[in-house]
Amino acid sequence: MMHRKAPVPVPGAPIIDTFVPKKGMQPIQSVRGMRDLLPADQHYWRRVSLAATDIATSYGFERIETPIVEETSLFMRGVGRSTDIVEKELYSWETPGGEHVSLRPEGTASAVRSFVQHGMLNQPQPVKLWYQGPMFRYDRPQSGRFRQFSQLGFEVIGDADPVIDAQLMIIGWSYLKTFGIDATVKVNSLGTPESRANYKNALVAYFRSKKAKLSDEDKKRLLKNPLRLLDSKDPAIQELKAEAPQIVDWLDEDSKAHFMRVLEYLDEVGVPYQLDPYLVRGLDYYTKTVFEWYANSDDAELAQSALGGGGRYDGLVEQLGGRPTPAAGFSFGLDRIVSRIKDTQPSSSIGIKHEVFLAQLGEMGRKKALALFEEFREAGILVGEAFSKANIKNQMEIANRRGAKWVIVMGQKETLDGTAIIRDMDAGSQEIVDIKKVVHEIKKKLGRNGETA
Ligand code: HAM
Repeated sequence: MMHRKAPVPVPGAPIIDTFVPKKGMQPIQSVRGMRDLLPADQHYWRRVSLAATDIATSYGFERIETPIVEETSLFMRGVGRSTDIVEKELYSWETPGGEHVSLRPEGTASAVRSFVQHGMLNQPQPVKLWYQGPMFRYDRPQSGRFRQFSQLGFEVIGDADPVIDAQLMIIGWSYLKTFGIDATVKVNSLGTPESRANYKNALVAYFRSKKAKLSDEDKKRLLKNPLRLLDSKDPAIQELKAEAPQIVDWLDEDSKAHFMRVLEYLDEVGVPYQLDPYLVRGLDYYTKTVFEWYANSDDAELAQSALGGGGRYDGLVEQLGGRPTPAAGFSFGLDRIVSRIKDTQPSSSIGIKHEVFLAQLGEMGRKKALALFEEFREAGILVGEAFSKANIKNQMEIANRRGAKWVIVMGQKETLDGTAIIRDMDAGSQEIVDIKKVVHEIKKKLGRNGETA
């Protein structure tokens, strides 16, 4: 965990130093692992956000927004002290008031904290929450892995039925289908904490007998978090894994029956899944079902980095101070989903499109156009402008780029006459109309007031 003591402000000290730019100074770059989501990509982000709201609403989820900063102990207790996420990847610091806080590395612990804090147990169960927002992990930046990334999450708190686990995977499947992403969900069951503990013992005994073949990193894992050995990328472990005990053989009867039901529901709906006895997840709160989404791709790197993941976490509410309450959920990594959409469906979008463009000539024309722009906006018509440009040719080029079919020209003469020119950009024809009727005329041409041109 990165821990920094915040600088304590000195009373009376100047807040801003005088800054004198020096010749040849390097421009400041964004922080490593954090990036700008530029305007050219915003339509992808809008698409994933709109689809998120649609799918969440149709499955009866309500949006929750929790703070980006939480007490560090929330993640220690929730995600787990010895997980990589908490041990190595938390952005943590001490506030001037002495609180130990962290940037959230994920959303589940916060959703559960909020559930407990606001007494949501008294609402009809289950409580279905969804969220979307930035998460922070001080991870090694690489393709598809950032230090600030965006997650879309769904949490169902207050229901133990296996149909919930299956439904979460169905939601994930439907969401990915919206974008034509071909993906498979890998599924496993981790059982109850007791059956998992028995399995852990068996796993530790097995890997101890192979200790000579383990790297130093893996030996540490064996001591601290032996289940994580199963998703180690080390080739030696890959080989040893084949002979290792499998968790399904250690599941208690209840977890086994639960898992069977989940798979039956997935079969019924036709969700493509793959059983993966080595899937263990990197967060400590899971019980029973766990799953991860992977794009079906020949690209080895892509096929290895999960688009999303989740599972059941029946013990977390109690662990965070609430009454024992079963729950399950998952989240998608939106950066990875956007990048998948970009790779498979490159778009020629050039940003904002306008159906109407307001061009102006001379100071008087500009003033009239400014006022007319407001009338258009109030009428709900997407209208473009370039008020800072005086040259009419430049303005026409911008209108063309924005795809505007109609351009309204406010020239000196028209302004004096109380008229405006409406130009049809496709036909190249134009007409003169009374300025008071321009909005009405355009509405008619766009078929917006029940009338057509
Ligand atoms: P997670 O598997 O740690 O689970 O993260 C979910 C998804 O977030 C990953 O599958 C990945 O797509 C994305 N992600 C994670 N780290 C990064 C990164 N450094 N850069 C880009 N994308 C990343 C959770 O966070 C759990 N809270 C999921 C959950 C919800 N379980 C139950 N409910």
